[in-house]
Amino acid sequence: MTESLEYWDALAALEWQVELGVDEAILDVPVDRFDLPAPQPAPKPASAPVTQAAPVQPAAPAADTVAIARQLAESAGSLDVLRATMEGFEHCDLKRGARNFVFCDGHPTARVMVIGEAPGREEDQQGKPFVGRAGQLLDKMFAAIGLDRRAEGAGGLYITNMLPWRPPQNRDPKPEELAMMQPFTRRHVELAEPDVVVLMGNHACAGLLGRKGITRMRGTWEDVLGKPAMPMFHPAYLLRNPAAKRDAWADLLEIKARLT
Ligand code: URA
Repeated sequence: MTESLEYWDALAALEWQVELGVDEAILDVPVDRFDLPAPQPAPKPASAPVTQAAPVQPAAPAADTVAIARQLAESAGSLDVLRATMEGFEHCDLKRGARNFVFCDGHPTARVMVIGEAPGREEDQQGKPFVGRAGQLLDKMFAAIGLDRRAEGAGGLYITNMLPWRPPQNRDPKPEELAMMQPFTRRHVELAEPDVVVLMGNHACAGLLGRKGITRMRGTWEDVLGKPAMPMFHPAYLLRNPAAKRDAWADLLEIKARLT
């Protein structure tokens, strides 16, 4: 923003951004992008003939980011290494817009591992999954069957998401984002070794089962890496559709029965 910009102009610019969906400042200090040095043209290769047009180079094939993710994920031998590997993964653009990397909450000794979609605003701010309104409902739901993310072992709950970075304006994850991060989530399940996986909502089902349709899928056991996996309505959906809590309760009882 230039210094000559008047108060009302600045306010109008801010209102315009809010209308576009901007809901928070990413940096503590504003960056005046009009004042950044202009990008320098790339230097010509010294050996290029001056009079003759250079042959057109075939475009380099786009890096197969899913294969890179798979290789990195498979080489992670512990949860700490997986966390560090994911945090350093530069191929997912969501990383650039997120405030924090969100890996997990709870204790990996828990028998139940919940897999959600992606961090929302509060999760992005705190660096922990499911800490907003949906997370509070999730805690109540699992407390009703004796599970608590603050506990270790049999009474515990281990929580993660398909994506570790918040999508802008909480938009839905894109299929390519799910595909890119899926190898990490699979490895996460392998390393945490839960007895039961809970797939919270359509995006967790799409990411790990390759299918959507939570209304039909919920309540029926699936298989994720040899572990029983229960698709459930996402707590954010339950907040909007309280009548579906009845189904969610039936699914929670299924999970409880599986643990005994
Ligand atoms: N919704 C999710 O799926 N995950 C979170 O961490 C928060 C909301």
